[in-house]
Amino acid sequence: MSRPWVDFINIDEQELQSCSNEFGSYKFRVFANGTTRNEGRNSKVIAPGQSIMLELDGNTEILTHEAPVMIRAFVFEGNIALDGKEVKERTYIEIPAGSQVPTVTSAGNARVFISYDGEYLVTSAIAKNNDIVIKYTQDLVWRSPIVSDFPGGAARKAFHDHGEYGSGILGILPEWDSPFYEWHTFSEEILIVQGSIISSFGTMKRGAYLSHPGGDDTEHGPMYSKEGCLMVVLREGPVGNTFTPADPAEVASRRV
Ligand SMILES: [Fe+2]
Repeated sequence: MSRPWVDFINIDEQELQSCSNEFGSYKFRVFANGTTRNEGRNSKVIAPGQSIMLELDGNTEILTHEAPVMIRAFVFEGNIALDGKEVKERTYIEIPAGSQVPTVTSAGNARVFISYDGEYLVTSAIAKNNDIVIKYTQDLVWRSPIVSDFPGGAARKAFHDHGEYGSGILGILPEWDSPFYEWHTFSEEILIVQGSIISSFGTMKRGAYLSHPGGDDTEHGPMYSKEGCLMVVLREGPVGNTFTPADPAEVASRRV
């Protein structure tokens, strides 16, 4: 599953929204709405789903509850606390449907990127399972990107790969260059954490988000990064990339 095509938006330009329910009151901004299949650029929305930035302040408390859907989250800015235990900026959190979501608080301002497919309809405060995955970026080692012929100068820290779901942080070196058009069989959601990357639709910097469903009409690139870049990547679907050489004039136009 994936979000519909978005390429790209900046989080700070999205409207601040509020939500209140029996588990808390909180503020958030929306990156993308709806769940699609990997059926190309115009993939139809077939179910609810959302990617948001949760905007915490020192007064926000979201009470523990059973996860109604699988939650994938990344602490984008500031530190948070889960059941009172500190979780640092650049930590990935994944909670399967039916597992316990801990109580979420923060000492000060903090921002958490969250993505889920389906309807977030809480029906129980207590879950049967407690299968939370917590991965701190600094604890992980760099390995090769998951796509075998990915252009050189890139590495990946895996957060949690299972079935056709994958999540990790992708790092590219300064002067990284991809002189290709590419499309893939999996969907990707990307959030820029540090640095910048120039792609088909301009320069993405910290807080920029894109969503590409899988499909052969979702070509993007060529790409270039002057200063290097760190990005969170959430994937769903079979791993398969098709690279074709891009128009040299287009490649040159990225290298500013
Ligand atoms: Fe891509």
